[in-house]
Amino acid sequence: MENHSGLTEESMRIFGRSNPKKELIDNNEYRNIDMQKEELQDHVVRRIEPHEIKKAMEISQRSLSERYSKELLIEIYQSWPDGFLVYSSGDRIYGFIAGRRVTQSEARILMLATEEEFRSLGIGGEIIENFIQACQTYGFMTIRLEVRTDNKRGIEFYQKHGFLVTSILRNYYSDGSEAYVMWKQLI
Ligand SMILES: CC(C)(COP(=O)(O)OP(=O)(O)OC[C@H]1O[C@@H](n2cnc3c(N)ncnc32)[C@H](O)[C@@H]1OP(=O)(O)O)[C@@H](O)C(=O)NCCC(=O)NCCS
Repeated sequence: MENHSGLTEESMRIFGRSNPKKELIDNNEYRNIDMQKEELQDHVVRRIEPHEIKKAMEISQRSLSERYSKELLIEIYQSWPDGFLVYSSGDRIYGFIAGRRVTQSEARILMLATEEEFRSLGIGGEIIENFIQACQTYGFMTIRLEVRTDNKRGIEFYQKHGFLVTSILRNYYSDGSEAYVMWKQLI
C-alpha cells in the first residue's frame, strides 16, 4: 500500500521515515543513495584476488551482453594482474575492469562493468581512473577499447574520461553488432 510520499509500506520500513534520498532505478524499485554511499564509504580500488574472479565474471554476466568464461578471465588476470582491478567494500565487489597489454606502448580495456543498482555513484569513474594510473605507471602511451555503438551511456562515460572515438568495426560482436574503437592518449 502506498502512503502520501509515494513509498510503499515496505520501502518505508527499509528506508526509514526521515525523508530518504531516493531514486527510481530500472526495475521500478527505489534505491536509497545515502544507504548505498554508506555501504561504499570504506571502499578501495585494488588488484583483483584470484578467488574473486568468479565474482567479476558474475558481474560481467549481469552487465555485458558478450559472454566471457572464467578460464578467459583467469588468463587475462595471469597475463597482467595489475590491469585487473576491482572496486570493493567489505567483502563485496561492486565493479571491475580487465585490461591487457597489447604492445609496450598500448594497453587495452577488455571489460568494464559495475553493478547496475550502484551505477552513477562514481564507481566506474574511480575504477577507470585507477586503471589509467596503472597504465601510466607501466609507461603505456595509449589505451584502446571497443564499445557497442548503441551503448550511449558507456560511450559518454568513456568520453568523460578522455577517450575519443576513432573508427567503427562492423560485425564486431558475436550477435553481429558493431563497435566504436575509442582511444585515450596518455602522453
Ligand atoms: C559504463 C559503466 C561502467 C559506468 O559505471 P558507473 O559506476 O555508473 O560510473 P560513474 O558513476 O563513475 O559514471 C556514470 C556516468 O557514466 C554514464 N552512465 C553510465 N551508466 C549510466 C546509467 N545507468 N545511468 C546514467 N548514467 C550512466 C553517465 O555519463 C554517468 O554520468 P553521471 O553519473 O554524472 O550522469 C556502467 O554503466 C556499466 O557497467 N555499464 C554496463 C556495462 C558497460 O556498458 N560497460 C562499458 C562498455 S564495455
